[in-house]
Amino acid sequence: MVKIAPSILSVDIDKIESEVSVLEKAGADYIHIDVMDGEFVPNRTEGIAMIENAHDGTNLPLDTHLMVENPEALLEDFLPLSNIITFHIETVSEETAHRIIDILHECEVSAGIAIKPDTPVEEIIPYLDDIELVLVMLVEPGFGGQVMIESCLEKVRKIREMKPNIDIEVDGGINLSNVDRVKAAGANMIVSGTAIVKAEDKANVISKMKS
Ligand code: DX5
Ligand code: ZN
Repeated sequence: MVKIAPSILSVDIDKIESEVSVLEKAGADYIHIDVMDGEFVPNRTEGIAMIENAHDGTNLPLDTHLMVENPEALLEDFLPLSNIITFHIETVSEETAHRIIDILHECEVSAGIAIKPDTPVEEIIPYLDDIELVLVMLVEPGFGGQVMIESCLEKVRKIREMKPNIDIEVDGGINLSNVDRVKAAGANMIVSGTAIVKAEDKANVISKMKS
């Protein structure tokens, strides 16, 4: 069964603690935390307060998505409370990527690499044996509420063909009308912001996404 990781990007910082508790009761498997620096993406988030507040409100594993130019510089802040940390391949050299993966593994945190819509899938092939998760962005990173770019699903198919057992997480524009196509492509971790957080009946959306 697929795992659901609601993104709390649109939740006010002082409401995160109560919101993640609601999401846990609604059947979420992870909480997805978007970290933005205003450089790699044209948007900025609150930094460590987000993950601290999420940790105060839930026992669910925390899935940190670093959309920043210098992911290595933020590891110290996010390692202690994260279960997964994902950084963007577009921001690092091969040497830095391997160093980050090693640091994450030393701290028993799962390592994920994310690719933007325009980044060819070939860029992450050299790392597939060393990481636990690939995050395929289905929109340009930076904002919630965008429309999924259908052609990105081809990358999910290719990765699934190469790696039957790796976690493939997808992020951006996923809702009840397209989630079946996303799952059919081979994704097993679904990030969803707008479709879950803005829904009245979050449990219903989460269970429909899983079924
Ligand atoms: C976008 C973020 C996403 C975002 C998803 O750059 O990485 O996690 O919150 O939100 P929706 O599901 O609304 O596209
Ligand atoms: Zn994200």
